[in-house]
Amino acid sequence: MTERVGLVGWPVAHSISPSMHNAAFQAVGLDWVYDAMAIPPDIVRHAFVEPKRHGYIGLNVTVPYKQAALEYVRPDEKAQAIGAVNTIDFRNDTGTNTDVDGFIDDLKAHDIFVENQRVVVIGAGGAARAAVYGLWQQGADVAVINRTRTRAEEMLTQLTFSAGVSGVSVIEMLDILDWSPGLIVNCTSVGMWPYVEASVWPENISVPPSIVAYDMIYRPATTRFMQMVRAAGGYAIGGLGMLVRQGASAFSLWTGVEAPVEVMYSAAQSALTTHDV
Ligand code: ATR
Repeated sequence: MTERVGLVGWPVAHSISPSMHNAAFQAVGLDWVYDAMAIPPDIVRHAFVEPKRHGYIGLNVTVPYKQAALEYVRPDEKAQAIGAVNTIDFRNDTGTNTDVDGFIDDLKAHDIFVENQRVVVIGAGGAARAAVYGLWQQGADVAVINRTRTRAEEMLTQLTFSAGVSGVSVIEMLDILDWSPGLIVNCTSVGMWPYVEASVWPENISVPPSIVAYDMIYRPATTRFMQMVRAAGGYAIGGLGMLVRQGASAFSLWTGVEAPVEVMYSAAQSALTTHDV
């Protein structure tokens, strides 16, 4: 019998997750199917109730339902810490958040180990929350910068409350060089397609030569910020690896089989080039 998993969100038409997961199922010889279900906000309950009723093993959850999902499953420690569920297992009605592992696993895959390292996270949305939590758990010394400072402060208060995160400061962009981070992580949407000329790094501050930058944006594959870092002699990584690895983490959770990360990466890359965004 074919097993089913899928993605719920609104909209979901441009998601590359179905391509990535279906390629992975095929590669490891599993008779599984991953489909995308667009659920309008007025019937959000159906996003979580109907797939289970129809025998789905689990779900990925995307915008705007990652918070709503908390009400329909038992969130694990990660989902509680982030305040958002992106992966559900209906076999035990639990929800987790694989963005944290996706990010940290991808750093490690690039030989970046953050314990005792100074890291700046730019942003204060859901992506930044996953980054701060993951980095803090790994023992990094983290500072946050956000356009709206109060949002960064609120994010840290919530992370302290939900996960005991402590010792993370909020700094200003102008102080970024004084803080001398080894790694800078962009968790904002600045530079994302179609606004590809925008950079999260201010044009009037020069990029230090030995910086390592991680940009969670994967469309485009190389952002303006990444170009600036590379032009200064630094090392810059785009966000596709994180996207693939959060998917790989969900894949292993559902199937109990090690995810074919390379296959998923290629499928994600070709889906990105064929989708007209
Ligand atoms: P997500 O959940 O994907 O992280 P989000 O909650 O919409 O998305 O957060 C977007 C992040 O990008 C925020 O940190 C936002 O800054 P504000 O909190 O000040 O809104 C940041 N961002 C978006 N557009 C920006 C811009 N033009 N300049 C600077 N930061 C921007």
